[in-house]
Order: sequence, then C-alpha cells, then structure tokens
Amino acid sequence: MAKLDIQKIRQDFPILDQYVNDEPLVYLDNAATTQKPNQVLTCLSDYYHQDNANVHRGVHTLAERATHEYEAAREKLRAFIKAKSTKEVLFTRGTTTGLNWLARFAEEVLQPGDEVVVSIMEHHSNIIPWQQACRKTGAKLVYVYLKDGQLDMLDLENKISDKTKFVSLAHVSNVLGCINPIKKAALLAHQHGAYMVVDGAQSVPHMSIDVQDLDCDFLAFSGHKMLGPTGIGVLYGKEELLNQMSPVEFGGEMIDFVYEQEATWKELPWKFEAGTPNIADAIALGAAVDYLENLGMDNIHAYEQELVRYVLPKLQAIEGVTIYGPQDASERSGVIAFNIAGLHPHDAATALDYEGVAVRAGHHCAQPLINHLGISSAARASFYIYNTKEDCDKLVEAIIKTKEFFNGTLKIR
Ligand SMILES: Cc1ncc(COP(=O)(O)O)c(C=O)c1O
Repeated sequence: MAKLDIQKIRQDFPILDQYVNDEPLVYLDNAATTQKPNQVLTCLSDYYHQDNANVHRGVHTLAERATHEYEAAREKLRAFIKAKSTKEVLFTRGTTTGLNWLARFAEEVLQPGDEVVVSIMEHHSNIIPWQQACRKTGAKLVYVYLKDGQLDMLDLENKISDKTKFVSLAHVSNVLGCINPIKKAALLAHQHGAYMVVDGAQSVPHMSIDVQDLDCDFLAFSGHKMLGPTGIGVLYGKEELLNQMSPVEFGGEMIDFVYEQEATWKELPWKFEAGTPNIADAIALGAAVDYLENLGMDNIHAYEQELVRYVLPKLQAIEGVTIYGPQDASERSGVIAFNIAGLHPHDAATALDYEGVAVRAGHHCAQPLINHLGISSAARASFYIYNTKEDCDKLVEAIIKTKEFFNGTLKIR
C-alpha cells in the first residue's frame, strides 16, 4: 500500500478545492501540466517580496541571496536526478528547449548517411528538432514502432546500428503511458557509439530517476509537469559531453572574456545560460523538488500505479471504450488515453467537463503516433499525487453518463 496521505496533500493545492460546472473539480490533465502546491506559490512570492535581484553579477546582499538560492535550486535538481555534478544541470525553459539544444549539437556532429533513432510514440518536441537536424545535415531519421501497445524492443535492436549517432526516446509516453526500458536502450546505443537522449517530461515527475544508473547521456524535463512553474526546466548532460557542445545562445552571463572579434565562454553550467535566467521559477522548481522528495518518489510511483490498477479495469469494462498502450496496469504510468466509440474525443472531453472532470483531447502533440494508431485523436486522463480513487470513480461515471447522453446504449461487460 502506498504511504501518502492524499487528503493532507490535497490541502496544499487550493486550486483543487473548487466547483466546475457545479461539480467538484476532478483534475485529470496532469500530463499537460500539474497544479502547484502552496509551498511553491509561497516560495515564488517570498522570492519577489524579499530577495529579488539579478544573479551572479552583483555583490550587494540581495544579489548574493538571489544567486545563492538559484544555485541551491540547481543543487536540489542535481540530487533529484542523481547527476554527478551541478555542472551537468542546465536550466532551460523546459523539455522542448533542452531537446532543441541537443538537436543543435547534433547538427555539428551528424554527417550525410548518419542516423538518428526515435520511436513512433515521441512527442513532437522529440521529433521536429531531429527532423530539422537531419534535414540540415543529410542524416536520416529512423523510427522504432510498437508491439502490444509499447516499444518493440526487437525493432529497437534492429534499428540501432553503427550508422546511429543519436537515440532519443521518451522515458514515459504521454499517450500510451508505457515506461520505456531506457537503461537497455542506452546500452544498445553505446554499443554502437551513439548518444542516448531521454525525454523525461513524463517520467521525472513520477518516479525516482538516477541518470548514472540509466547511463543516459542527456535527459530533458519540464518543471511545470512536476509541481513547478511554467517556463523552467532542466537539461542534464554528462559533463564531458556538455564540454564538447557549443553554447546555443550567446550574450551576457555566459561569457568569460569578450574581445572585439571573439569571445570565450564561462565554465559549465553557465556557458549555456545566456542572459538573465528565469531565477524565480528555478528557485520555485527547487521548492517543488523539496515537496516531491518529502513525499518520496518511490511512494509517488507506487501510489500512481495503485490508481491505475484501480481505474484501468473499470475503464476497460465500459463497452465501446478503447484504451491505447499496454493493457496491463503494471506496465503503465498514470497516463491513460482512450476513445469512446462513436464519439469525437473533443465532444467526450467537453461532456466530461460538464461533470467537472478535466481531461485533454486531441493529438497530444504526437501526430505520427496518432496516425500510426489509425485514429485522428484521443481523450486522455492523467493522474498525479493529489488524485484519489473517488476521482477515478468520477471519471468512470462521467464516461458512462456521457455515453448515455450521446447514444443511450450503456452496457457494462
Ligand atoms: C513526452 C513529452 N515530451 C515533451 C513535452 C514537451 O514539454 P514542454 O512543453 O514542457 O517543453 C511533453 C509535454 O507534454 C511531453 O509529454
């Protein structure tokens, strides 16, 4: 049994305590963004009320305080993903920025005929930057497909070859909910001399991550999906690789010396952080990490799995509901994409909203996957630490009610 006191956790999230369309809000859009606890909101407000100053450049007390808090947040993020050094933790705007920076690095590395391996389940932010890098360099983007609703490991083994220079995979799919075997993929990539890139947008917020154990070369994730503010995220990279990479943005903060015709860069991690960074949000992301660590990432993962084990069979039992991804709860994270026969997912999501249940509908920024599944879109419920079994029941009830409303032919298998 999970060890979280969910009612106590919910008290930290005042936004959850509201009615939507005269129904208590059931927020199940956590894969898109999570809500923020009081601790994060207070941290943001305290920073602007008490400590606000620009970092690194000042010697006055406020500047020193802001710098100290900003770098302390970096150390919290380092410990959270078990990186060796804070030099390996770059603050970015989010997953998308991190992956774009890596694709820029790829443009320096890739030669015509080289290959970049991704999977068909990737989010657009782990596809388009690589498309661009391949287009500019003459390299080829190669896709790994699915077996039984998850990554086909045999296909992965076949697709990774000595031509492969980068393998870039989601740790957890934002549509299928499957958890990809990154450690195994990293081993395969390294056996062929390729870099292993991990899109951690849907894994880092939900499970214990150890970049050294995974042996990934890079990991990108977003603060807003893990209780932190929008506009802040992290790109982790192995120190020796980040040292080889050129900065992507240039300007203040990232330089050592500037001459009339050239410049030299600061050491890691600041070489990559041009301009005034997103100081307040980085510090508040540190507060989000404190909050998650206090609950325990293993407890969070266990609790989400408990919710999925509870709700998945109930959803599977509703006639006409198709669930995408692995059908076994033990192989899933708390993301469940589904369709209701005869109902457009946007209509389904709107109808669920009438019941106070917030789910997402659309292509989930994964059009190649949606095409591959032979559908035009899907609805998606995604769970986090403040969701309860009652939320699960409400989702199931609301789907059944929606079906009744649209066709009046409810049957439970
Ligand atoms: C798997 C995955 N990768 C990348 C992203 C992009 O994250 P962001 O928009 O925070 O950069 C998302 C966001 O939904 C995601 O789910």
